[in-house]
Formats: sequence, C-alpha cells, structure tokens
Amino acid sequence: MSIYQLGLDYAKQQDILDELSSYRNRFHIPKDKHGNELIYMTGNSLGLQPKSTKSYINQELEDWANLGVEGHTEAKNPWLPYHEFLTESMANIVGAKPLEVVVMNTLTANLHFMMVSFYQPTKTRYKIVIESDAFPSDKYAVESQLRHHGFDDREGLILWEPRKGEELLHYEDLEAILESHGDEIALIMIGGVNYYTGQYFDLKLITELGHKYNCIVGFDCAHGAGNVELNLHDSGADFAVWCTYKYLNSGPGSLAGCFVHERHAYNKNLNRFTGWWSHNKQTRFNMRHEFDVLPGAEGWQLSNPPILSMAAIKASLDMFNEVGIKKLTKKSKKLTGYFEFLITKLNNQDIKIITPSDSDKRGCQLSIQVKNADKILHDKLTEAGVISDWREPDVIRCAPVPLYNSFEDVYKMVEKLKNILND
Ligand SMILES: Cc1ncc(COP(=O)(O)O)c(C=O)c1O
Repeated sequence: MSIYQLGLDYAKQQDILDELSSYRNRFHIPKDKHGNELIYMTGNSLGLQPKSTKSYINQELEDWANLGVEGHTEAKNPWLPYHEFLTESMANIVGAKPLEVVVMNTLTANLHFMMVSFYQPTKTRYKIVIESDAFPSDKYAVESQLRHHGFDDREGLILWEPRKGEELLHYEDLEAILESHGDEIALIMIGGVNYYTGQYFDLKLITELGHKYNCIVGFDCAHGAGNVELNLHDSGADFAVWCTYKYLNSGPGSLAGCFVHERHAYNKNLNRFTGWWSHNKQTRFNMRHEFDVLPGAEGWQLSNPPILSMAAIKASLDMFNEVGIKKLTKKSKKLTGYFEFLITKLNNQDIKIITPSDSDKRGCQLSIQVKNADKILHDKLTEAGVISDWREPDVIRCAPVPLYNSFEDVYKMVEKLKNILND
C-alpha cells in the first residue's frame, strides 16, 4: 500500500506537516500576468531567487561605493578571502572536506581545468568514457580535449550506452567496457545525476571500477549539487565539478564548484593551468615570487573572483546551511515520491517515467516520457501556468525542489497535465 493519498486535501495537509514549508516564502516565486504564482518545476535548470540575495549583493555594492579598493580588506565581508566564506557550506553540501572544494569560474571551464590536470593521455592509454547521453557541453569538452592532445575524437571517445529499448544505464555494461578497453582508458567522466533521465549514479561504485583499471574518475555534478547527498570525499572520485545556478539558486550563469580529492591536494607535480589566485596567499602580493601553488582545490583558481556573483552564492548557501542537506533530501524523496504516485495514478498508457523508481537512485527530478507528444504539450502546460522543461523528442523534465515547491504545487501540476492529456 502506498504511503500517499489522492486529493487536494492530502496535499494541503502534507504542506502543513512539512517542517520546511516556510522556506517557500523566502523565495521569489514567478507569477503570471494576472499576478498568480506559477507552478515552477524547473529548479533543475535555473533555481529561484532567494529574497535575501538582493541584500547580500547590495552589501557588496555599498562597500564598493564607500570603500573602493579598500573593500578587499575593509568590506564587511572582505573581498580578498571572500571565496573562503563559501567553502565550508559548499563542502557540507557535496560531502567533501573544505580542503577539497573551491568555488570558481563556470562549469564547463572547470571541467576543462580539471582535465588539464587529470586527463594525461599516453600513446596507449588515452580514451575517455562518458554516458552516451551526456550533457552536450560535457561531450564537446571531452572531444576537444582528445583533439587538443592529438587524438581522433570519435576513436577516442567510448560511450556507455543504455541497452536497446531502455533509457537507464547498467553498471555491468560499464564494467564490460572496462574489461575490454580498461588499459586504453585514461578518464571516466560521468554526469553524477544524468540531466536527461535523472538517474543518480553510484559514484563510489563507478570510481572503484575505474580505479581498478587505473583510470582517473571525474563527475559533473551539475544536477546533483544541492539535490542529492553526493558524498564526494567518500566516493573516492579524483575530481568533480558542478554549477550553482540550478539547485543552489545563485542566479543565471553564476560561478561553479570544483572538488579535487584530498589525495591530490599536495601534489605539486600535477600539470595545471595557474594564475595568481593559485599562488600561496602569504606571498601572493609580493608579486615577484616564484610560483608556489596552494594546497587543495584552491590551487586550481586562476583569477580574483567576481564578488557580486559570490554574494548571491553566499545568500543561498547560508540558507542551505540552516536547513542541511539531510533534511532537504528527506523532504525531496517524499515530494518526488508523491509526484510519482500521482503520475502513476493517472493510469495513462502513453506516459512513462524514465527516471529510476528507487528514490536512492534519483534526485528530485522526474523525466516523464509522453508517447506521440510533441512540444505542444509543453506549451500547453506553460499556458496553464506550469513551468516545466521540454527535451526532444518526447520528455518533460519536472523537478519539485524541496526548498520552495509544495505538495500542492505537485498536485496542481499533475491535475493540469491530466486535463491537457484528456483534451
Ligand atoms: C550536466 C551539465 N553540464 C554542463 C552544463 C553547462 O554549464 P555551463 O554553461 O555553466 O558551463 C550544464 C548546463 O546546464 C549541465 O546541465
């Protein structure tokens, strides 16, 4: 028997019982032209704006106006060490040690910087494994790394593919790839939570498999950070990257995160691109010093960071700190489980949820495949006030986000979908 029930009253009651329900009021919820709140289901694409963000950014604008360059040391939150104010909260969110985490650059840029260090191909070991349905930017990035090192990108790329007629990936198939090509593979680079299916991979299992064959293992956790408990340190992954504008609600195009496992923290021999922000903080401003790399993930920074973007990240991370990722994922499992229950209860043969049904193998997103549908379905949902995300050829991605989505949102979304499908 299901733990969930049908009906709007049940949804409303769950919102009353939800200890995180008040957080919704701390976000700006987009509205339609009549001023009604939209049902926002696209936190997997761009998270909503916390109401506190403006004051965090204003603080830095004021300090800049009043202090000019002195703000580097005299601002309320001095700019020189500003990125350090984010480290501990970010480390908690992704399950890492502070030494292993830094916020810098943007996502695809970080992926390249990580590959500069961790993709060190030889004549015989140069291939890269990715999911066949990896996010395009990741695919383009690894292809360009192959070409950069003089390899053919088609020959050098190995795709971990779903079985015929399936969408999700099997670890046995990755193992089979490693069994036959293990000594040719330099790098395994997987999306921690696949952007299309929402499948949350077992990062530890993949890492152990990869390391068994002496491959470097990295993850793009864009769809995992702030959504699932990543436990990056314990996974043993060599590196990971993620953005902060999805589940971490820090604004369009905001800065990204980067994880480098502790075991690489003091390795000064790793090839890397460097700049003055990767240099020892004590002697950084002596200017004529020989390069002395910082230990840990900070040693991969290049530039002094954009404080206004970091202020938006700080606003969001302070809220995450208050709630904690454990409480968030607990609610998330319940909310998405409820969403899955309602979709299943539609009993519509044209609908298939391609996201894993095991709540430990997914985050909050459900990818709903609708047979014979096209983008018109998505457009009708938008007209009905549901902001969802359409992926060709026939998938709607919806992510009820535990910080600001309610059980009522989920109920109403499914009702609207039902009405559109019945039409
Ligand atoms: C999995 C994944 N990788 C890479 C990217 C590209 O991110 P960016 O434009 O911040 O480099 C995205 C963007 O949504 C993504 O979802």
